[in-house]
Amino acid sequence: MLDVAVGSVENRQIGLVRKDCQEQGIVRIGAVADSYHAVKSHQSSSGVWCYDNFTEVGSNSTGLVKSDTHDREKNCIVWPINHYLGLNRHPKVIEASIEALKQFGTGCGTSAMSGGHSSLHKLAEKRLAAWLGKEAAILFPTGYSANVGAISALAKGPSCFILFDRECHASIIDGVKLSGAKFLPFKHNDPIDLARKLNKFASQYENVLVVVESVYSMTGEEACLREITELKERYDFLLFVDEAHSFGLHTERTLCTKFGLTDKVDFVMTTLSKSTASIGGVIATTNAFKTLLQVEANAYLFQAAIPPSDVAAIMAAMDVIEDTPELLSSLWSKVSYMRTKLTELGFDIGSGTSPIIPVFIRDSDTLLRMGQDMYDDGVFTTSVAYPVVKHSEVRFRFILNESHSYEQIDRTLAVLERLGKKYGVVAS
Ligand SMILES: Cc1ncc(COP(=O)(O)O)c(C=O)c1O
Repeated sequence: MLDVAVGSVENRQIGLVRKDCQEQGIVRIGAVADSYHAVKSHQSSSGVWCYDNFTEVGSNSTGLVKSDTHDREKNCIVWPINHYLGLNRHPKVIEASIEALKQFGTGCGTSAMSGGHSSLHKLAEKRLAAWLGKEAAILFPTGYSANVGAISALAKGPSCFILFDRECHASIIDGVKLSGAKFLPFKHNDPIDLARKLNKFASQYENVLVVVESVYSMTGEEACLREITELKERYDFLLFVDEAHSFGLHTERTLCTKFGLTDKVDFVMTTLSKSTASIGGVIATTNAFKTLLQVEANAYLFQAAIPPSDVAAIMAAMDVIEDTPELLSSLWSKVSYMRTKLTELGFDIGSGTSPIIPVFIRDSDTLLRMGQDMYDDGVFTTSVAYPVVKHSEVRFRFILNESHSYEQIDRTLAVLERLGKKYGVVAS
């Protein structure tokens, strides 16, 4: 048996190393790690490795972007951050967090179920329940663990069936797999395919859970929430909606509420790491389901609770959102400006409407080289490469934050226009 994946590291995709190893019969985990490291080292030395870039002084709309793996550093306009409202730098949010640190100390030291929550956590749960339009809310340490914990507890074992959108986030898919339930993905944002699958399978199971996102993180498209909730009139299922990319960005707080659908949704989930610029995940539901999750979701039972200073930051961010409605209108004006300009320049940005703006490149080699040039020109963003998406769908992802200025948007557009022409992505 071979010890490391053989062949040139030159054109190898880091996301395919495990598959290459399997094909070559490499099964020892140390050898798989060596194969990964060879590809990463090669990409680092040729300057195209961009996946552990970091900012010198934390998330912001601009900053010095560095890498552990090579010596480069560059002052960049920063686009991969999900702080849609830029609140991680808001003085009130920082002040509230410092005050809570002084009063409540740093970590909680244990899980919520064994006494790790404080009065702040309790206040936050009540306020989040109201924002999400439900009777009760349960706070998890992260959005990832909220999805894994809740979904695996709600659809336990083979008598349950889960249908989820094919493009759901990894935390949803991991929860689905951990549940031990039977499951099937349905075609992305396709209520007709969902209906077909409900029609075929729903009656065979005691419990059916349907999981979707309100806005999809790789494309910025809104889900067909109305059509999906209408299916509840014909089929018996519980509906779980992840609002990670819409929570706090509308005056109604969620898309479910904006469309008058919250009563038809059984579980409204959101992360607190995006618009509220902190960390944490929450599931809003009935009191009864909250109790079930408290007792059955291992991520709640066996994971240390979210620190009070982070809870204080969440609540201060909610205050700012309530007190400053112009933040939302300003964000949406910038979204509309950037989307319109990109389309006018000839870029394909898909059919989304949200502050997540994909710029489709559709060629893996161009993506790598253009990403490198973009960084050299002072624009830093995420390259969404194969196998996360198909070769024909590789793209850059720009996440617009209210803290991005029009000047930063214009400078980014100018770089994209120049490079788009250089690489033939748009017409010269
Ligand atoms: C749709 C969705 N759900 C859940 C999560 C996990 O949230 P967190 O990163 O705050 O743990 C993310 C993170 O990006 C997400 O995009």
